[in-house]
Parts: sequence; structure tokens; C-alpha cells
Amino acid sequence: MQTQLLKEFETIYNKKAEHIYFSPGRVNLIGEHIDYNGGLVMPCAITFGTYLIVATNNEHKFRFRSLNFSENLDISIQTSYIKSGETWFNYPLGIINNFIKDGHQIQGLDMLFYGDIPISSGLSSSASIEVVTSYALNHQNKCGYNKLDLVKLSKNVENNFIGVNCGIMDQFAVAFGEKNKALMLNCNTLEYKAVEFEMGDYVLAIINTNKPRKLAGSKYNERVIECNTALYSLQKELSIQHLCDIDTGVFIKYQSLIDNAIVKNRAKHVVEENDRVKLAAMALSNNNLKEFGNLMYASHASLRDLYEVSGIELDTIVEYCKTDDNVLGARMTGAGFGGCAIALVKHVAFDEFSDKVSTYYKNIIGYAPTVYQSLIGNGVSELGI
Ligand code: GLA
Repeated sequence: MQTQLLKEFETIYNKKAEHIYFSPGRVNLIGEHIDYNGGLVMPCAITFGTYLIVATNNEHKFRFRSLNFSENLDISIQTSYIKSGETWFNYPLGIINNFIKDGHQIQGLDMLFYGDIPISSGLSSSASIEVVTSYALNHQNKCGYNKLDLVKLSKNVENNFIGVNCGIMDQFAVAFGEKNKALMLNCNTLEYKAVEFEMGDYVLAIINTNKPRKLAGSKYNERVIECNTALYSLQKELSIQHLCDIDTGVFIKYQSLIDNAIVKNRAKHVVEENDRVKLAAMALSNNNLKEFGNLMYASHASLRDLYEVSGIELDTIVEYCKTDDNVLGARMTGAGFGGCAIALVKHVAFDEFSDKVSTYYKNIIGYAPTVYQSLIGNGVSELGI
């Protein structure tokens, strides 16, 4: 793969590449829509991701090319940039903008991007491209940021340049991911532990609904607002900073402070999901994969019924999984509104599972999903050239 990409770079720019960087995508095992509520999440980096191949230039220009998209951009070094329509290069452009805003002198750079994360699949292709760009710029220009600074800068770009009010989970996972490990991340304190994800006879399947995601960003922002509304209501009597500062017991006691039934449901999901992550961590440390699987199913039901970010495509996959004895648990992963589900599937039965879930889904939805066996990989890094 790397050799091929270096050749492509040479053909496009008519010069040799100087560095190649890689940042993965991610799946989240459990703890959905709670990172922006100060909750606990359990993501892992996957082996699909974004490659960035670069060489400096002396023409004070940034050049953006991608092997996935036809739009290109050549732009002079300026004091600031603004978002340009809905194109892919807004992500790296936003990153450069933030480096410059922070007072860094950035050298002209010829860039070639290539991603093998299915687009719009909810596996964090946007965090992946943000983090690979910030990692590369930091390295090329010796800006002195540490990895956590790059995570925060990338999240800031997503929030303020792209306009999606996401939490920190995705950028954190693609930067700090470790092979075969899940990250237990506290999104309030940003403390984390990388723990071995022991799956025994099971493997992690990713099932892409292949549903085009429309308006996902605006529906996502709507959920963030609903959570803030719930928080303000609870703050009338509770001195808390985030919804995840309380557990289910306290929520039951104070839930009547929230008038709106929909907003109450959103908050109920958040508080219960945070408690589920604690139980999931315990199940993992006791090697109780069955219990972990049950918590995955419960998480999905809550995202479907209380948080309303699932949909017939994701629900159909999870419904199938419940009927298959070779599956321990399944749920949607990431923001939802389409995208991917994950499932814990018996290794020896993986191919059979893949066929059966595909047939079941196609019969109901009308087109096939794509099923992958997921490997848990490392976070962002420079690859040897
Ligand atoms: C998206 C966001 C994350 C997180 C998830 C839902 O992936 O980027 O910050 O909120 O949705 O858990």
C-alpha cells in the first residue's frame, strides 16, 4: 500500500514524497452520545484509516489532492481560511487555519490523501483526516504540540470550522488507539486506560448499513442542544456540570425537573448509558463477554427508543443478531442515523454470520450491507518511507 501511494504522489507532483503518515478510524464498543456529556466511553482504533503523503514546497502554497475525491485545491499561505462549501479538503484546511491562528509559521506543503474507511460510515473518517493532518503539520514544522493538544485542536476544527458540535471521543481514539486494546476514556477529565480487549473465541464484526447519511450533522447538533436543555433544568436543584455527573438513581429522583418528555428521554439515555459503560468495564475485567454482549443490546435499544438516533437499517441488523446463537451482542456504533453496527461474533462462524445477516438485511432493506471483521489497531503515527 505505502509503495503504491508513494508512486501516486510522484506521478501527481512530479517529485519524491518526504513523509507518509497514517491515522486510523475508530469503533466505539459502548458509551454512545455521552462524550459531550462528560461521560465514559470505550472506543478502539481500527486498521482502516487515512494516509497522508507530503513534501514541502518553496512556493508558499498548500496543495490538496485526494485519491478518493476529484476536487483539488491549491491555495497560497494566508493569515486565515474559511470553509469552502461541503468539500473534503475543509478538514485539512481547518487544521491549517488553527495552526496559523495559534501563531505557527507553516511551510508550503504538497499533500496527497488516501482513505480506506468507507465514507459516511460513522467510523470517523473526519476525525481521522483531521488528526493525520495535525500530526503531520506538527511534525513537519516542529510546532511542539503534544498528542493531546492535537486531539483538542482537531476537535476544535470539527466544532468551529466544520460546524459539528461533537465531543472528543473520535479524535482521542484515533490519536491514542493501541493495538488489541480498548480505551476507557473519561471525557470529563480526559483520563484514560488502554485495556486488553479479550474476545476469546469471538471477533468483532463491523456491519455497514450502506445507508447514505443525510443531515446527520444537524440532527447531531440537535441532540447536543437537547442535552444542554436537560442539564439546565437539572441544575435548578443539582450542582452539576455535566449530565454524566449523576447516576440513574439520582436521575430518577430529579427527572421531574425536566418538563419536555423528549428532552427527558434524551437525558435518561445519557445517564443510563454512562452507568452501562461502568458495568461493561466490569464485565470485561471479569472476562464475562456474555454480559458485555447484553449491555451492547441494551445500549442499542436505548439509542433506538430514547435517543432516537438509530433507524430501520441499524435496527434490522441488531434484530438479526439477536436471533443468531453465534452472536453475543450487537449495537449501532458512532453517531447513528445510518452508518455501522458492531457485533461480537463467534470466530469459526464468521462467514456464515456474514452471509446470513446480509441476506436478512437485503430482504428487508432492499440492498446489501458490507460486513468486515474488525482488527483493533494503533493510533496516528508516521510510517517509514
Ligand atoms: C460522533 C461524534 C462523537 C460522539 C459520537 C456518538 O462520532 O463525533 O464525538 O459523540 O458521535 O457517541
